[in-house]
Amino acid sequence: MKNLILVAGATGNLGYKICRELTKLNVPVRAIVREGSDPEKIQALEQLGADVFRVDLSNEQELIGACNGVSCVVSALAGLHEVIVGMQTNLLSAAVAAGVPRFIPSDFSTDFTKMPVGANRNFDLRKEFEEILYRAPIKATSIFNGAFAHILRYNIPLFNTNEKTIAYYDDKTDWKIDFTTMDDTAAFTARAAMDDATPRYLRVASFQVSPNDLVRLSEEHKGAKFQLVHMGSMENFSAYNKAQRAENPEGENQLYPKWQQAQYLYSMFLVHHPALDNDRYEGINWLPVEHNI
Ligand SMILES: NC(=O)c1ccc[n+]([C@@H]2O[C@H](COP(=O)([O-])OP(=O)(O)OC[C@H]3O[C@@H](n4cnc5c(N)ncnc54)[C@H](OP(=O)(O)O)[C@@H]3O)[C@@H](O)[C@H]2O)c1
Repeated sequence: MKNLILVAGATGNLGYKICRELTKLNVPVRAIVREGSDPEKIQALEQLGADVFRVDLSNEQELIGACNGVSCVVSALAGLHEVIVGMQTNLLSAAVAAGVPRFIPSDFSTDFTKMPVGANRNFDLRKEFEEILYRAPIKATSIFNGAFAHILRYNIPLFNTNEKTIAYYDDKTDWKIDFTTMDDTAAFTARAAMDDATPRYLRVASFQVSPNDLVRLSEEHKGAKFQLVHMGSMENFSAYNKAQRAENPEGENQLYPKWQQAQYLYSMFLVHHPALDNDRYEGINWLPVEHNI
C-alpha cells in the first residue's frame, strides 16, 4: 500500500516532530487537529507540507473520513483516560472501519508490558487501551523509548544539578536507564510508520546510562562530581508512591502530578530494555548522552 500516514496529536511536541520527520522523507502526512488547536501550531504543520484535517475525535464519520486511504495511523495524543482510552479507541475503530492496516498507539514510554498494574497510573491507561487494541483486526506496533532525554536537564532526583546528587534505589548503581531524545523518537517512529513489517513492540534508546555513569558524566561535563544518594529500597519506593497517590487525589485529574513523576522514576529503575531495535533503520543519528546533560 502506498504510504499515507495519519498523525493524531499532530499539534503536540512529539506529534509535530513525527510529522516533520515524515515530510523530510517525502511521505504524505495527514495531520489531524481539533477545531480549538493553536492556530500557530496548525500553521507550522501546514508549512511542513502536512495535509491538515480538522477533526472531532468524538465524531465517528469525520474520523472514518480522515482515515480513508491511510496506510498507518500514528497516535501521539497525550491525556488521561478520556484521551488514551476514549479518543484512541475512537481513532482505532475508525481506522478499522476505513481499512487502515496499521496502528501505532501513543505509548512512547518505558516498556509498560513488564510493569505491574498500579505501579504507574499513565501506563495503566495504556495497558487498558492495549487490551482493546489486541482485539482489533489491525496490525499494531508500540514504540518504547524509555524516558525523554531532556528530563535530565530538569533537576530530577536522578540527576539533581542543584544539589549535585544522583539518586538510586536498592543496589542499582549500575542499572542502565533508557533515555531517548524526542527528535530520535520521532525519527524512529516516522520510519516505523513506513515499515509494514514491524513487530508488535520496538524498543529504542538514544543512550542507556546508570547512576555510576552519571557520576562520571557529571565530573566530565558539569565540572563537579555529583554524589550518589541511596534512596532506599524499590519496595519502599513503590509503597511511598502508592501512599502519595492516595493522599493526593487531586492528581487523578492531572497528567503529571508529583506522584506520577515519582511513579515514572520508579519504572525507570524497575524496567529497562535488554536489547535495542535502534539499528532497524539506517540514517538515524542517535544523540549521545553528552549532548543531553
Ligand atoms: N517517555 C517520556 O519520557 C515521555 C514524556 C512526555 C510525553 N511522553 C509521551 O509522548 C506522547 C506525546 O506527548 P507530548 O508531550 O508530545 O504531548 P503534548 O505536547 O501535550 O500534545 C498532546 C497532543 O494531544 C492532543 N490532544 C489532547 N487531548 C485531545 C483531545 N481530547 N482531542 C484531540 N486531541 C487531543 C493535543 O491537541 P491540542 O494541541 O489541540 O491540545 C496535542 O496535539 C504521549 O504518549 C506522552 O505520554 C513520553
